[in-house]
Amino acid sequence: MQSFKGRDFIDIADFSKEEIEYILYTALELKRRLFLKQEISLLKEKVLALLFEKPSLRTRVSFELAMLQLGGKALYLGPQEVGLGKREAIKDVALVLSRMVDGIMIRTFAHSNVLELANYATVPVINGLSDLHHPCQIMGDLLTIKEKKGRLEDIKICFVGDGNNVCNSLVVASAVLGLETWVSTPPQYKPDAVVWEWAESASKKSGAKIVYEADPSKAVENADVVYTDVWVSMGKEAEYEARIQYFKPYQVNSNLLSRAAEDAIVMHCMPAHRGEEITDEVMDGPQSVVYEQAENRLHAQKAILALILG
Ligand code: CP
Ligand code: NVA
Repeated sequence: MQSFKGRDFIDIADFSKEEIEYILYTALELKRRLFLKQEISLLKEKVLALLFEKPSLRTRVSFELAMLQLGGKALYLGPQEVGLGKREAIKDVALVLSRMVDGIMIRTFAHSNVLELANYATVPVINGLSDLHHPCQIMGDLLTIKEKKGRLEDIKICFVGDGNNVCNSLVVASAVLGLETWVSTPPQYKPDAVVWEWAESASKKSGAKIVYEADPSKAVENADVVYTDVWVSMGKEAEYEARIQYFKPYQVNSNLLSRAAEDAIVMHCMPAHRGEEITDEVMDGPQSVVYEQAENRLHAQKAILALILG
């Protein structure tokens, strides 16, 4: 296993199965110590800049709290202040921040912005969501599945809805870890083709089973995890009317959920559009683990931060 120190966290594909498992193990340990009220100042006086070009609740709060709980500090930089690539070139933002802070988290539109920032920054860069990937979300989700199901292997995960950033990162993680993941999206809104091709090839090595099935009722058959996300991601609001018509059969409601395993858990990265991709009944129902998922963002990111900045 390579050392984590100084590495970027941009795409789960950049890490091995062993490394992902080690991050999850560290997250569980940090979560345990938090509940025991043990102080862990692994990042004493370290500062993380949070560059946001899109809104956030979970990502912002969990990163700020993660730094605070590890003895460091986070600085929120909103779109009005920085104007990434508009007020100032990404290269200059990277070089200036690298002289002042110990790490940079970025939430942006084009994934190439994350790569460009990381290319010029001399401190670690963490992807807090791009149009292509949301790796920190999936780390928290893997932790949640592990806690709820006791394992990641020998379970069927089914993502239903839009083949978006969350779906792409889930597919990548499954390919790296050797998991069984089914994806059910309208044919027009499949996961990214390059990501899918990479995952198929990585699956040959890891033993993962990655399946696309356009029919959601077939895809969720006996699933242990049913995962959904919004049909219109941030930045795609203008496509709302054009998109929404294709997604109606992909709603996670009681009827669809009844086809999954009896003890299936329901996941959503949130924010949720209740009544669109998920009904109130399912979101508030006994199988939903959405709030545990949200909380686990904190624990997973603490592990990532402690390992790469520590
Ligand atoms: N799941 C997630 O990333 O939530 P926010 O957009 O609120 O950060
Ligand atoms: N797919 C959603 C995830 C939000 C956390 C979006 O990009 O808006």
